[in-house]
Amino acid sequence: MSFRTHTVTEYVEDVSPGSGALPPRAWYASSDAPSLSLNGIWRFRPSPTADAEDDSFAAQGYDAADWAQLPVPGHWVLQGHGSPIYTNHLYPFPVDPPRVPTENPTGDHLRVFDLPEDWPDLAEGGAVLRFDGVESCARVWLNGADLGTFKGSRLPHEFAVGPLLKPAGNVLAVRVHQWSAGSYLEDQDQWWLPGIFRDVTLLHRPAGAALDFFVHASYDHRAGTGTLRVDSDVDGRITVSELGIDIATGESATVPVEPWSAETPRLYEGTLATAGERVPLRIGFRTVELSDGLIEVNGTPVLFKGVNRHEWHPEKGRALDLATMREDVLLMKRHNINAVRTSHYPPHPAFLDLCDEYGLWVIDECDLETHGFTEQGWRDNPVDDDRWTPALLDRASRMVERDKNHPSVVVWSLGNEAGTGRGLTAMAEWIKGRDSSRLLHYEGDPTCRDTDMYSRMYADHAEVERIGRALDGGGLKRRRLPFILCEYAHAMGNGPGGLADYQRLFETYDRLQGAFVWEWIDHGIAHPELGFAYGGDFGEELHDGNFVCDGLLFPDRRPSPGLVEYKKVIEPVGIAGDCGESTVRITNKQDFAGLSALAFSWAYEVDGEPVDSGDLPVPALAPGESAEVKLPAPPAGAPTGEARWTVRAALAADTPWAPGDHVVAWGQVPVSRRRVPSVAATARPVPGDGVISLGPGTFDARTGALTAVGDVPVSALRLDVWRATTDNDDGAPWQPDQRYGLLWRKLGLHRMRHRLDAVETGEHTLTVRTRVAPAARGLGLLTEYRWLSDGDRLRLTVSTVPEGDWTVPLPRLGIRFALSAADGVRWFGGGPGEAYPDTKAASAIGRWRSTVDELQTPYVRPQENGARGDVRWAELGGLRVEGDPAFWLTARRWTTEQLDAATHRSDLVPGPASGSGSAAAVWVNLDHGQHGIGSQSCGPGPLPRYRLRVEPAEFSFVFSTVADPGSG
Ligand code: GAL
Repeated sequence: MSFRTHTVTEYVEDVSPGSGALPPRAWYASSDAPSLSLNGIWRFRPSPTADAEDDSFAAQGYDAADWAQLPVPGHWVLQGHGSPIYTNHLYPFPVDPPRVPTENPTGDHLRVFDLPEDWPDLAEGGAVLRFDGVESCARVWLNGADLGTFKGSRLPHEFAVGPLLKPAGNVLAVRVHQWSAGSYLEDQDQWWLPGIFRDVTLLHRPAGAALDFFVHASYDHRAGTGTLRVDSDVDGRITVSELGIDIATGESATVPVEPWSAETPRLYEGTLATAGERVPLRIGFRTVELSDGLIEVNGTPVLFKGVNRHEWHPEKGRALDLATMREDVLLMKRHNINAVRTSHYPPHPAFLDLCDEYGLWVIDECDLETHGFTEQGWRDNPVDDDRWTPALLDRASRMVERDKNHPSVVVWSLGNEAGTGRGLTAMAEWIKGRDSSRLLHYEGDPTCRDTDMYSRMYADHAEVERIGRALDGGGLKRRRLPFILCEYAHAMGNGPGGLADYQRLFETYDRLQGAFVWEWIDHGIAHPELGFAYGGDFGEELHDGNFVCDGLLFPDRRPSPGLVEYKKVIEPVGIAGDCGESTVRITNKQDFAGLSALAFSWAYEVDGEPVDSGDLPVPALAPGESAEVKLPAPPAGAPTGEARWTVRAALAADTPWAPGDHVVAWGQVPVSRRRVPSVAATARPVPGDGVISLGPGTFDARTGALTAVGDVPVSALRLDVWRATTDNDDGAPWQPDQRYGLLWRKLGLHRMRHRLDAVETGEHTLTVRTRVAPAARGLGLLTEYRWLSDGDRLRLTVSTVPEGDWTVPLPRLGIRFALSAADGVRWFGGGPGEAYPDTKAASAIGRWRSTVDELQTPYVRPQENGARGDVRWAELGGLRVEGDPAFWLTARRWTTEQLDAATHRSDLVPGPASGSGSAAAVWVNLDHGQHGIGSQSCGPGPLPRYRLRVEPAEFSFVFSTVADPGSG
């Protein structure tokens, strides 16, 4: 005889989407029907299995006084009950669909509520209880009545509750299970976070209320007219007073309108009035079509400059408040981003309202990923198993019905990384049948069977170019489709590199309609000891470490250098010119808008200091047009030196997303070249007591090591080739490029030995000959340091000659040394932010000031960071350094070795390197070369031209003393 012991929880492992919920419909806020938010403090009882407790708590009169209190919305594992788990694609439980583990953390939630005094008479109309998001499976009772169960974590579910309501003492009971059959469909790369994480709302539904409605608002770009028709389950009238529209539901009206686009998000306020309520409408007229193989909106092909956005808050997880959603949208707009893929589930609906209002193209993606089945060759994949198709269709319809009235949503996406199968086709067919006004996306099927665009992730530049030229093969259908990279430029840690090189391709080939950076924000969890925690920090059995921190924003929403770089690369206006030219080329790179919202200005700078500035009149340019715009004559009496124009395009007036002086684009045009520093070799080396002096330099006579410049002590100056490998250096196992981070370490580049061969004094020089090489290898770098001085300044020339068989590029090539103290830093060169060879577009040549602490970029997992590029000279700690040629400047309060060993920011403690014997407080790297960054933590490595090739090199620095700039 066998018993099934947990029949009460059979719904948990049932492939069906649930039972008892109302059919999906549009999400809207009524103008006059009241609603009651049930967010707030609930009673909460966690239990370790789905059936540990009986359901008696759902009955009226149950005493939950000894239960915990829990804010809803939230995820209980971030609220002191249990722990979050991070996996990329591995299911954190045995794969045996639809079964889930017996250990199934379950949270019983209880809330007792009264209806507001002014709540309409209960006999009139009904009421609906709405859950906007619960992970992953819930069972609901109201006043003891079993309402049903549901799955589909990031989708709304409603229950009819009218007859159950009482004026006071309503008992709402919700049992939430972390794992369910639905978990197999929700294998997105993110934290597993159970809970009621979006709003819970009670909506009054008056008799004659609108139920569901579909706003069809198209735009005819030839006629300049919009056509509006609202189909509604309940008859009513549609008014748009600004357009003089007053029609019945189901009727259409065509009138002249301004179209909606992400660049010009024109919305018209309207109303749907049924017998029972009034519903506000925000109507954007636009037509999306596939035309001649291109994605067109309002007759114009669009270029997506996008990001993938997961919902994330470092304390609240995916339980975002409106202010955080708005902050995301404002940050996107301010960084020139025009498109969002809602990876990999429909966001909180309020986010889409913001996209309508501020203007962002949206790919709305369904809550579906089954990536973990790849581990078994996709056997048992739910999307290819008819038993799961109702659940898939339920998800598709809940997304489309909820979000169909948003003009910002231009593309529906079936989901992410779910392989291929009949279920996906069923979803696509259903969506196309329900809404033919939008295009369809899915990346996982290279044949593009169900989709309107060819989409890929992480293709390298060369392949993207082949696709742009339509030389990529593929079936007949795919060859005719436009192309997007739904993910590229993996923003994990330092990077992504190569953005500008991709953007050039997108702007060159029509078929390439843009791309979406992976991803918007690091999903670090605020942690009292670690700063931000990532996978493994909660003792997970399986985890994927800091792969969850791969965003353009740090977890606290501070923009990373990657976002600053992206903003520059996707500027809506191109500003460029050649050295010495008297004009600057201005290009309107937008798809719809002219330049009238922008004010252009010029500044004339000498050696990085502004000498004069003024307005730059720029002619009106239609999208795609460019003009050579005359620059003024260089200001009379300007000092001589390295001169350049900086031309900026700023908002001419305040906009809803940024103030009037916000710079959207800039460019620099050099006028004259830099003069490199020269030092006459006039001073002679003078031997002393164990030291040699040469001009301001003091050296150890035995080792030839520099010990001071004037009165500034300097220690441990020597060649340096190592950097604390970045996530992109280390690379992902599945990427085809060489994983140099691993190869460098294998070769021993992190433990180079310096052999002293000779210390030689000449008439005017001190020369130190060395060989720098790792143990166990035959290769090395013959390195010579040659010093000379004019009495005031000290010039070092380093030359390196590689020996042996080098099969990898170098991480960096330069010198490093320690200063006993430094705080403020000033420099003339690239800034203000971090730059590496393939992340340098946003680095503007100028005079910059910072502090050693502010030079650090707070990557969640510490790694090489903070370099400033093209530095002509820098001053810190009382030392001035001029470079010949310009150099990369890095300064930090710990060594590269300490940075390399750190796993969290909290590991980085200022002080001397252990065992260095040095009291050094600040380590300075002056680099002649840096290896590129690339995007290999998930995509391709740096392009060959950004690799730091091992070849003979020579570079110089001129040292002198200077007043310490203090604290910047
Ligand atoms: C993609 C996936 C994303 C994320 C990314 C790596 O394959 O679609 O969800 O995992 O890789 O960060």
